[in-house]
Amino acid sequence: MRAPGTSTSTGVSPDEAGNEIGAAWASGVPEAAGAGSPVAGEDLLVGHRAPAVRHLLSIADLGRDGILEIMRLSDAFAEVAERPIPKVPALRGRTVATVFMEPSTRTRLSFETAAKRLSADVMTFTASTSAAVKGESLRDTVETIDAMGIDAMVIRHHASGAPLRVTDWVGASVINAGDGTHEHPTQALLDCYTIREALTARRDGAVPADMSGLRVAIVGDIKHSRVARSNVLAFAALGADVVLVAPPTLMPASLEGWPVTATGDLDSTLGGLDVIYLLRIQSERLGEVLLPSLDEYHWRYGLTRARADALKRDALIMHPGPMIRGVEISPEVADMPASLVTRQVRNGVVVRMAVLFHLLGSGVM
Ligand code: MLT
Repeated sequence: MRAPGTSTSTGVSPDEAGNEIGAAWASGVPEAAGAGSPVAGEDLLVGHRAPAVRHLLSIADLGRDGILEIMRLSDAFAEVAERPIPKVPALRGRTVATVFMEPSTRTRLSFETAAKRLSADVMTFTASTSAAVKGESLRDTVETIDAMGIDAMVIRHHASGAPLRVTDWVGASVINAGDGTHEHPTQALLDCYTIREALTARRDGAVPADMSGLRVAIVGDIKHSRVARSNVLAFAALGADVVLVAPPTLMPASLEGWPVTATGDLDSTLGGLDVIYLLRIQSERLGEVLLPSLDEYHWRYGLTRARADALKRDALIMHPGPMIRGVEISPEVADMPASLVTRQVRNGVVVRMAVLFHLLGSGVM
């Protein structure tokens, strides 16, 4: 497993992907794509700098400037999402295939909706109804799909590094939709966008420059969480102070190279947080008994009402879903106004439109 901070794909460093446009969260929406502009995907090209890499496997592929460029594009697509017909022709004639070898609700539907709202054609591969159940290999599967003529392959796989291998086998842009315990970059991007949106609303529309000055706790099964790995990279790249909170058995064996602090004591951490980000226990990846019981976990690490009351009044509560109510979060807290879970899902579509546009919409293919 790679430590956060190491690129997984083409070896192009975030600096080489440098981009003046996304210099800050506050860089704003390109004028031509602002409110009242005609529905024209080409408008979104105004000010858009083509990415230096054509795959998105890790947050490290984007770096700070790439993340900020996705935020800027997401603003434009958030405006599109408010229109009576939330669709632009930006990717007309392009084909996006979703290849999910692990279960998914949010990520898959969100990518497919995003592609359709960009007018791309969508091809859906489901492992359980495919030749994969007859023993076809991953390589043969993705080569077959690629041969049908696709522009992007959005892939989720239980093996860390599978999307990277797939880049050797297909001509399409590959987007990692979650690989084993490695990374889930679009989750981190939609989380950054959701925090930015909440802070902007609080500041009467003034977009903050980045996440500097914010203290963010990521709580739970850090060891097996690809979301934690991508979010640590993204939050730290934007200047946040990140603390990981978990029992020792759910913390990675080494945090060397991770730009974080770590603790096992949630209660003493709560009062200083601006954002608390809860993770699901990845039971499907545990392989051994790492917790006495889920009740014990809830008692020590769950965000109960009493713990939510110990947070700052305006602290944000986040979770990537699926939430297991009564384990990492109590049902009451999950439904509190401070809980951004539904905003995260809504923003997932907008941010994935931005990612697809970033990779496919600028003539790099
Ligand atoms: C993931 O696929 O990693 C999810 O978004 C988070 C989870 O499964 O707990």
